Amino acid sequence: MDSIAVMTSGGDAPGMNACIRSVVRFGISAGKKVFGVRRGYAGLMAGDIVEMTSRSVGGIIRTGGTVLMSARAPEFMEVEGQRKAFENLRGSGIEGLVVIGGDGSLRGALALHRLGLPVMGVPASIDNDIAMTEMCIGVDTALNTIIEAVDKIKDTASAHQRAFVIEVMGRRHGYLALMAGVAGGAERVILPDSVVDTEEIKKDVREAFSRTKPHYIVLLAEGAHEHDKFVMDVICDAIEEAGYDTRRTVLGHVQRGGSPTVFDRLLSTRFGAKAVRELLSGVSGKMVSLHADSIVSVDLETVLSSKAELRRDILEIAGPLAM
Ligand code: ADP
Ligand code: F6P
Repeated sequence: MDSIAVMTSGGDAPGMNACIRSVVRFGISAGKKVFGVRRGYAGLMAGDIVEMTSRSVGGIIRTGGTVLMSARAPEFMEVEGQRKAFENLRGSGIEGLVVIGGDGSLRGALALHRLGLPVMGVPASIDNDIAMTEMCIGVDTALNTIIEAVDKIKDTASAHQRAFVIEVMGRRHGYLALMAGVAGGAERVILPDSVVDTEEIKKDVREAFSRTKPHYIVLLAEGAHEHDKFVMDVICDAIEEAGYDTRRTVLGHVQRGGSPTVFDRLLSTRFGAKAVRELLSGVSGKMVSLHADSIVSVDLETVLSSKAELRRDILEIAGPLAM
C-alpha cells in the first residue's frame, strides 16, 4: 500500500483535526503518500481529493471543526454513490481510507470495505453513541463546554432562586445529559427514555427549594423530544405550577465547537496512529476503540449492530447526588 486517504464525515467533533494531523504525519513517516478527501462522502463522490503534507496539518491540533470539512450526503446511502466514491479513490491511486465520523459515517466506511477497499473507522461524535468504545472524539470537549455553561447558568439561577431547564445534544443517546448532570450538579436529568412524571417533579421542586436550595437545574437530553415533542414545555409548566420561576436554555451547536481538550487531543492522536498502523499492516473493516486506556481495534460490523449503553455506574449515583 503506497497511498492512503483520510476524511471526516457527519457531525463535526472537536479533535477531528488532531486525528487528521496524526493520520497524515504517521502515514508520511511510514513513507506513504497521504491524501485528504474534502467534504465527507459528498467530496468523495465528487472526487474532491487533495494531497496532504506534514505542513498542511501544522497548527491544527488545537482547532475545532475540521480542515477537511464535513457533510451529510444522502446520495452515498445508495450503492451507485458508493461505487462512484470507490472508483474515485481507485482512480487517484488510493489504496486505503481512514474515515473519521459518527455512526452514519462508519456505516458508509463499512459499505466501502464491503466493496473491497481497505478501510479503518475512527469514532468521532460528541454524542458518544457508538458501541464498543469507551469514548469517541469530541465528547470530552463538548462536556467541558456544557459544564461551563451550566456553571454560569447556576450563578444567575441562584441569584433569583429560579429553575432552569437546559437542553443538551446527543441525538437519541443520553450520555451528554447524564454526565453533565452529574458533573454539573444538576437536580434532575431527563434522558431520552425517561418517564416524565409532572406530579413528582412538582413535589421534588418544592422540596428542593424548601431545603433552601438556591436553584433547581434540569439537564434535558434532546432525544427526549422523540417521545414527546412538548417535553420542554411539560417540564417548565410543571415547575411553574409548583410556584417557581423557570427559564429554558437550548445550548445547541455551541457544544460542537471550540478547541479540543487535552483528553481529546491525545485520544484523537492515538486513534489516528492506530488506524494508520492497522491499515498499513493489512487490516480492514475495523474501528479503533478506547478500552481500559488502550487503543484497540474492533470489528466494524459488530460495532454497528450493537447499541451503545449508558454507564450504569454513573446512572446509579446520579439520583442520590441531587440532594
Ligand atoms: P454521523 O456520522 O455523525 O452519524 P450521519 O448519520 O449524518 O452523521 O452520517 C454521515 C453520512 O454518512 C451520511 O450523510 C451518509 O453520507 C453516510 N451514511 C450514513 N448512513 C449510511 C449507511 N447506512 N450506509 C452508507 N452511508 C451512510
Ligand atoms: O451528532 C452530533 C449532533 O450534534 C447531535 O448531537 C445533534 O442532534 C445533531 O448532530 C445536529 O445535527 P446538525 O448539525 O445537522 O443540525
